[in-house]
Amino acid sequence: MKKDLWIGGEYRKASSYIKLKNPYNLELLAEIGVANQEDVLASINAAQQAKTIMADMPAFERAEILEKVVQFLKVDHEECARLIALEAAKPLKAARAEVDRTIMTYTFAAHEARRIHGETVPMDAAPGGQGRIAFTVREPLGVIAAITPFNFPMNLVAHKVGPAIAAGNSVVLKPASQTPLTAYKIAEYFHRAGLPAGALNVVTGSGSKIGDVLMKDDRIKMITFTGSPEVGRYIREHSGLKRVTLELGSNSAVIVDEGVQLNKVIPRIVNGAFAYQGQVCISIQRIFVHENIFEGFVEQFVSNAKKLKTGNPLEDDTDISAMITRGNVQRTKDWVDEAIHNGAELRLGGSAEEAVFQPTVLVNVPLKEKVSCEEVFAPVVHINSFCDFSEAIDLVNDSKYGLQAGIFTNDIHKALQAAKKLEVGGVMINEIPTFRVDQMPYGGVKMSGMGREGIKYAVEEMTELKLISFKTE
Ligand code: SIN
Repeated sequence: MKKDLWIGGEYRKASSYIKLKNPYNLELLAEIGVANQEDVLASINAAQQAKTIMADMPAFERAEILEKVVQFLKVDHEECARLIALEAAKPLKAARAEVDRTIMTYTFAAHEARRIHGETVPMDAAPGGQGRIAFTVREPLGVIAAITPFNFPMNLVAHKVGPAIAAGNSVVLKPASQTPLTAYKIAEYFHRAGLPAGALNVVTGSGSKIGDVLMKDDRIKMITFTGSPEVGRYIREHSGLKRVTLELGSNSAVIVDEGVQLNKVIPRIVNGAFAYQGQVCISIQRIFVHENIFEGFVEQFVSNAKKLKTGNPLEDDTDISAMITRGNVQRTKDWVDEAIHNGAELRLGGSAEEAVFQPTVLVNVPLKEKVSCEEVFAPVVHINSFCDFSEAIDLVNDSKYGLQAGIFTNDIHKALQAAKKLEVGGVMINEIPTFRVDQMPYGGVKMSGMGREGIKYAVEEMTELKLISFKTE
């Protein structure tokens, strides 16, 4: 199957194509169009033409388009889950959950489209401001470039396209090279739902080449990016006055205090560490456990992790499948070996069967090791102990990242201390840092990014606040 580019409401042939392979068994899935500079400019032209139509479209019509997309996703639920499983090697259970979340994300986008509003401004609160009625409105920015990652190929596209359309913008979407098929499918749904031609364009191919054209073009008013900190920083530094939202990585941590019910907490933490092979920005990478319960915790954690079934993503009971590329498998192996060489103790896993990296548990890892201080983005977790709660908070904060953190404790004072002191975008008390529902604000501090997603918050980023003041006297 050849997949052309989606520009101006129709498929457009590319000058070259690249093979897309299933990460699990390397079978050919499709040949994907590679956009050249001319194609990217054509997609920006199409989006620019559609921007006025989108800005003029009433909110209820934008909401109805989003609601129709939700209906298509519900009807094609299993087909979409299988597509995610095929191109991303996401185990079917997790792929189905992703389609459920995508449905919620577009549903929230439809709700949000109907309630975008400004506020009245009390101008007479300042001397000289009297005799005026003033209010704000939120206007669409215009053309938004969305660059999305492989790990949630449907739902993280939804987190950008959903609020952009809800707010009346047009979009040029560049999905991850490894997961273009789900993005093209979403474009087809929007087309069938009645979205005007050019309001959503999809260009695939080289991220850096497409990104450079998008960054240089003044017609693009915002870039919303999810991916690596290195690329995020590059975009920030080369986008001039464009608005930029960056959702980057993390080495998320969870604190486990003494006194908590381990049989309840551990299965949840195992899930947060290993779901989708740990390739989630808020995967648990660092676990800090009170020293009084440390050995028992490690033993139970390993025994739970051993139950995870590895294998083909298309099998219903698979928990862990292939990592996205063979190169990432090798990098993970190198980082784990290096940590062991420098004193970490391996309690589970540590190797791969072809592209499937085994769930890996390290204990007492020196914190300068890459498996601790870099984003590992693999099914690798480390467990270290702490003796004092304040020390645990310092350990979590001792990171260049700050997306979300989790803490399990029965002590309300410690919970509140963590809420105040943790340097992250979201603190999950009695929950894993991997927790996310799609309407909540989501984003990080430090190298984890800037700006917030979560539909209402993304709509704020994707609109311009305009003040209107009437002089009445
Ligand atoms: C991410 O990896 O940034 C997204 C995590 C999620 O949506 O659960």
